[in-house]
Amino acid sequence: MEENKLRSRGWFGKSGKDGFIYRAWMKNQGYPSDEFDGRPVIGICNTFSELTPCNGHFRELAASVKRGVWEAGGFPVEFPVMSLGETLIKPTAMLYRNLASMDVEESIRANPIDGVVLLCGCDKTTPSLVMGAASVNIPTIVVSGGPMLTGKYRGKNIGTSDIWRFSEMHRKGEISQEELSDAEACMCRSNGHCAVMGTASTMACMVESLGLTLPENAAIPAADSRRKVIAHLSGRRIVQMVKEDLRLSKILTKEAFENAIMLNAAIGGSTNFVIHLLAIAGRIGVDLSLDHFNQLCEKIPLLLNLQPSGGYFMEDFYYAGGLPVVMKEMLSLLHADAITANGKTIGENAKTAECFDPEVIATLAEPIKDLTGLAVVKGNLCINGAVIKPSASLKPELMQHRGRAVVFEDIDDYKARLDDPELDVDEDSILVLKNVGPKGYPGMPEVGNMSLPKKLLAKGVIDMVRISDGRMSGTGFGTVVLHVSPEAAVGGNLALVRDGDIIELNVEKRSLNLEVTEEELERRRAEYVPLDLGYNRGYVNLHVRHVMQAHQGADLDFLRGGSGDKVTRDSH
Ligand code: FES
Repeated sequence: MEENKLRSRGWFGKSGKDGFIYRAWMKNQGYPSDEFDGRPVIGICNTFSELTPCNGHFRELAASVKRGVWEAGGFPVEFPVMSLGETLIKPTAMLYRNLASMDVEESIRANPIDGVVLLCGCDKTTPSLVMGAASVNIPTIVVSGGPMLTGKYRGKNIGTSDIWRFSEMHRKGEISQEELSDAEACMCRSNGHCAVMGTASTMACMVESLGLTLPENAAIPAADSRRKVIAHLSGRRIVQMVKEDLRLSKILTKEAFENAIMLNAAIGGSTNFVIHLLAIAGRIGVDLSLDHFNQLCEKIPLLLNLQPSGGYFMEDFYYAGGLPVVMKEMLSLLHADAITANGKTIGENAKTAECFDPEVIATLAEPIKDLTGLAVVKGNLCINGAVIKPSASLKPELMQHRGRAVVFEDIDDYKARLDDPELDVDEDSILVLKNVGPKGYPGMPEVGNMSLPKKLLAKGVIDMVRISDGRMSGTGFGTVVLHVSPEAAVGGNLALVRDGDIIELNVEKRSLNLEVTEEELERRRAEYVPLDLGYNRGYVNLHVRHVMQAHQGADLDFLRGGSGDKVTRDSH
C-alpha cells in the first residue's frame, strides 16, 4: 500500500492544529518526530490481564512483536482490550465474548492503525478478537499465547481434562481434598493456556487453519523460546501485510472456513469451535451454516491423539510437528490454494512438514479413531440443530441410543437433585438439562457435560447420553449433545420434554428425536410458560435482547457484518 494511503496518515499526516494534536501527545512517550513520517502503524491488541492467567505472559509476547515491527520499519503501538479469563469470570466468559469483540472493533477503527496483531490465548480471547477485527477488515495477523507445559503429578502427565476425572474420583471418595489441592499446582506449572485440545488450543488451531497466523503458531508451548520467535516474526510480517494490503477478507474466504472445519474434525477440536466459527463467518460475510459442518466432517476420522479425545498434550503435538503435519496429511481434502498470512498458500506452507511422532499424529489410512471429531444432529428436539463430539465419547455404542428422559428444568434443579438417591435414573436414561442456552442462562455456560449421578458412578457407569442447550468445556468428554437450537428459553421443543419421554439419538443418521406425538407437543406448548429472564439493565439486558441462537453463532444480531475501516465520524 502506498504510504499516503495508510489509514494512519489521516491522523499523523495532517498539518496545522489537528496534526499537532495527533502527534504532540504521542511524543510524550518519547517518540522522535520521524516516527510519524509515514511508516505503517501497527496496533498490538493485547488481552494481558492478571485475571486471565492464560494470558499473563502477554506483555513479554507483545515486546517480541514490537521488536519485529521496529525491524521491519513499522511503528508498533500496544493497546489493551477487554480480556476474558475462562476460569474466573462469572457467570461465563462467553457472556462477554460479543462485548469484547465490540471493544476490539471500535478500538481498531477509532485509532490510527494500519495493521493489527491480535494476541490471543484463553478460550474467548481468540474469537472475540478475530470477530472484532473482521468487522473492521484491515491487515491482521494472530499470535497465540501457546499452551502450558504438560502437567506432572505423582509421576503422571496431567492436563485440564483431568479436572473432570479428579473431581469424579473425589466424589466417589477415591482421593482426598488434600490430594486434589496438590494436583492444582502440578497441572498449571508454566505460562500458557490449557494444554489439551480444549477450546483455547482449538482456537489456536482454528486461526492457523484459517490462515491468520504464521505456520506452527498453534502448538508452540508458551514457555518455549520459539513462542517469542513466532511473535517476533509475526511483528515483521504484519508490516509487509500492510504494504501488500493483505486484508482479513482476502484470507477469510469460504475455502478458508471449509479448511478450518475439516481440520477441526481431524484434530478432535472443541465443540465451541462451531459457535465461534459461525460468528466469525457472520462478521466477514461468508455464508456458513451447521449443514456445512456435516457435509465436510462426515468422512474425516480423528488424526490427533490429544486429550480429551486421546492421550497426549499440546506440547507433544508441537514436538511431533504441529498442525502443518495434519494439514499435509489432509491436503487432498483441503483447499490447498487458500492464501495465508505469510502470503503463501496452505499447501505451500504444509509441504515441508514432517511427522516426528506417529503415536501423536496419525494418518488418514490409520487414524487414531474412525469416529469423526464433530457431528451435527437434527430432529424434532433440535429443529435448527445440535452438536456432538463423537471422538470424545467414552462409550461409542451410545452413538445410537434410545432412552428415557430424566429432566432437569434448569441448573439449580440439576444441582439439587442429581445426587438424590431417590432420583429415578439408570445407566440407559438420558439426562436432559434445560435453560442453559444463549438467553436462558445468559452466555450459555459450559455445563452440558453434566456429572453422572453419584449412585451410577458407584456402580461403575462411565458415560451416559446427556442433552442440553448449553455448551461443554473443550476439555470435557462423554456422549454429550450440546447447543440444542432453538433453546428452551425461547420455547424450543427442548422446553417441552418431560420425565419419562423417550428420546432417540442416532449419530450415524445425524438425528435426535423426541418420541412424542406432534399433538401432544402442541398441547404442552399451549401450557408452556416462558421464563422471566429478568435482566433489565446494562450489558446483560442488551445481550438477552439481541443474542442469536447457537446455530447462528450466538453473536448479537446487530453485530453481524462489519462497518469497515472508515472512522465513524471524522471531526477534524
Ligand atoms: Fe484459559 Fe483453559 S482456562 S485456556
